[in-house]
Amino acid sequence: MNAMMAMPDTLAGAFERIQEEIDSVFDAMLPVPDDTRARLVEAMRYAAIGGGKRVRPLLVVATANLFGVNRDAAINAGCAIEAIHVYSLIHDDLPCMDDDELRHGKPTLHKAFDEATAVLAGDCLHALAFDILTQPDTSSDPFVRAELVATLAKASGHDGMAGGQIMDIVAEEQNYDLRQITRLQQLKTGALLAASVEIGAVLGRVPPEGRTHLRAYARDIGLAFQIADDLLDVEGDEAKAGKALRKDEEQGKATFVTLMGAEAARRQANMLVDQAGQHLACYGDDARTLVELARFIAKRDH
Ligand code: IPE
Ligand code: IPE
Ligand code: MG
Ligand code: MG
Ligand code: MG
Repeated sequence: MNAMMAMPDTLAGAFERIQEEIDSVFDAMLPVPDDTRARLVEAMRYAAIGGGKRVRPLLVVATANLFGVNRDAAINAGCAIEAIHVYSLIHDDLPCMDDDELRHGKPTLHKAFDEATAVLAGDCLHALAFDILTQPDTSSDPFVRAELVATLAKASGHDGMAGGQIMDIVAEEQNYDLRQITRLQQLKTGALLAASVEIGAVLGRVPPEGRTHLRAYARDIGLAFQIADDLLDVEGDEAKAGKALRKDEEQGKATFVTLMGAEAARRQANMLVDQAGQHLACYGDDARTLVELARFIAKRDH
C-alpha cells in the first residue's frame, strides 16, 4: 500500500502515470500565442495543468483497456472530459456561484487572473473538449467520433453537469429530499463520471447493449464519489483537499451527509463500492483498476 494516499501501489502508479500524461497533452495543446490572447491561454494552462487527481481520464483509460483500445486515443478522450471538468470547476468557483478562493492548493483562477478571464478560459476549455474528440488521433472512425461528441455533450449540458449545477444553486431555497438530492448529484457529478466509462466503451466499440454492467458500475461510483465529497466537506482537512471546506452547512445545503448523517452516508458509500465491484465481476482481473478506483473514490481524503 502507498501509505500517503491510502491506496494500492498499482493504483497509485496508475494515477501518477495518467497525471503526467494529461499534463503533457494539455501542455502540447495550449501553446501561449504571441499576441494579446496570451493572458487567456496562460489562464487555461494555470487551471488545466497540474493539481487535479484526473479520476475521469483514469476511468476512460481503465475502461478502454478492457477492450484493447490504443492508449494514446484513450488519453486524448480522457483529456477532453478533463477539459470539461476543469472548466466546470473554474465556473463553480466564481463569485456568482460558490465564490471560492482556493482550488488545488492555489488561488482560484478568477483570483489569480480576473473574472472575465476566468469565464473565457472556462468557455475555451469547453470548446477544446469537443475539438479534441473530433480529431482523428482520438478515433479514426467518424461514427465513433460522433458518438464521443454526443456522449460528452449530453453529460455536460442541462441533462448533465450544468443541469446539476443549477439544481445545486437553488438547493439553498429548496427542501430537497433524498430522492431529489440523488437526482441532483447524478447530474452534477455522476454524469461526467458515467460519461468517462461510456466513452471508454465507445472507443472499445462496445455496442450499447453490451454496456449494461459498466453503466451500473458508473452509476454506483458516481453516487459514492459525491457522498465522499460531502463527507470531505464535513470531516476533511483543507490542506489535503486544497480547497475550502465546511461550506455546505454554512450555505444551508442539503447533502447526503446532512440528510443521512455521516455514519449512514459512509455505510452507503461502502455499500455502493461493493456493489460497483460486483457489477464488473464478468471482467475478472482485467477490471482490477476500476474496482480499486471505486474503493479509492469512496475513501479519498482529497
Ligand atoms: C471535485 O471533483 C468536484 C466535484 C465534482 C465534486 P474532483 O475531486 O474530481 O476534482 P479534482 O480535479 O481532482 O480536484
Ligand atoms: C462542483 O461541486 C461540481 C462541478 C463543478 C460540476 P462542488 O461545488 O461541491 O465542488 P467543490 O467542493 O467546489 O470541489
Ligand atoms: Mg458548487
Ligand atoms: Mg464548489
Ligand atoms: Mg463540494
